Order: sequence, then C-alpha cells, then structure tokens
Amino acid sequence: MAKSEADFSYHLWRYDGQPGELIPLLQSAQEHFGYIPRRAIKYISETTKIPESTIYGVITFYSQFRLQPMGRHLVRLCCGTACHVAGAPLLLQTIQDELGIEEGGTTADGVFTLSKVACLGCCSLSPAMMIDGDTHGKLTPASVRKILRRIRRETLKQAGGEPAA
Ligand code: FES
Repeated sequence: MAKSEADFSYHLWRYDGQPGELIPLLQSAQEHFGYIPRRAIKYISETTKIPESTIYGVITFYSQFRLQPMGRHLVRLCCGTACHVAGAPLLLQTIQDELGIEEGGTTADGVFTLSKVACLGCCSLSPAMMIDGDTHGKLTPASVRKILRRIRRETLKQAGGEPAA
C-alpha cells in the first residue's frame, strides 16, 4: 500500500544526520512513488545535505531500489536450480532480446518490468516464469516470445482506448 506524501515528508523531517538513515529514507520514497524519482533524490539531498552523487551510489548499490517506475506487467523469470538446468539462462537472454531491457529494467513503452527470482515453487513446470499472477511453464524461447507479444499487443490495444470488457 502506498504511503501518503505526509509520511514521506515525515521521514525526512525526522532525519538527524545519521548516515544509516539514508536507506529508510530511500525505502520511504520508493514505497510512496513506486520507484525513486529524480525529484525525490533532489529533495532528499537538499534536506539531508547528502550529495546527490552519494545518494545515486547507494541506490545503484542496493538491488531493492528502482530508478524507473514499474511496468504494467511484472515478468518474473525463475532462475532456481530446476529452471536453470531446464534452460532458464537461454530464456533470460530471449526475454532480454525481445524486450530490449536488462534484468530489473522496464521497457520504454512501460509495458514490462523484468526480474529474476530464485524459485517460483512450481519446479515440475520448469523452466517457468510468472507474469503478474499467472504462471507459465515448460517454456521455450518461442513460447516466451509468443506470450510476451500477446500481452504487449493486448496491453497497447487497451491503452489505445479499447472499451474495458
Ligand atoms: S526452480 Fe523454478 S520453479 Fe522451482
């Protein structure tokens, strides 16, 4: 659940200059905005007097932080042992090529965000991925491309003003 703007400001107001406080501030910003926008970094820097370059360094060091908003659909590719053995590395490459993003990235059209996970808990379906709440198993590069293209097509069609079903 997104926190209110007041909550975010409250964290900043309480900042008393301890170095360890930067992480909770960044977490608060991400919780509020869904990612850490440029304006939040500027605001935190001005309030805490921590240089923006230092804040960027911390953000890029910790994989929990995002500098881009999430896409409409979260693709979680399983890279656990069973899926790895069954071909997850090739699927990862396929998804990255198809979407033009690296792990953790969001497509330029905002449709997909890609992440890797350790195990989705459905190893008998390996290699597997989850898109939002839907599990897709026994994947091949061709089936992955097909799924991603279908979802992108449907998403863009809806965004183009298609009446909601
Ligand atoms: S290792 Fe992929 S679902 Fe378990």
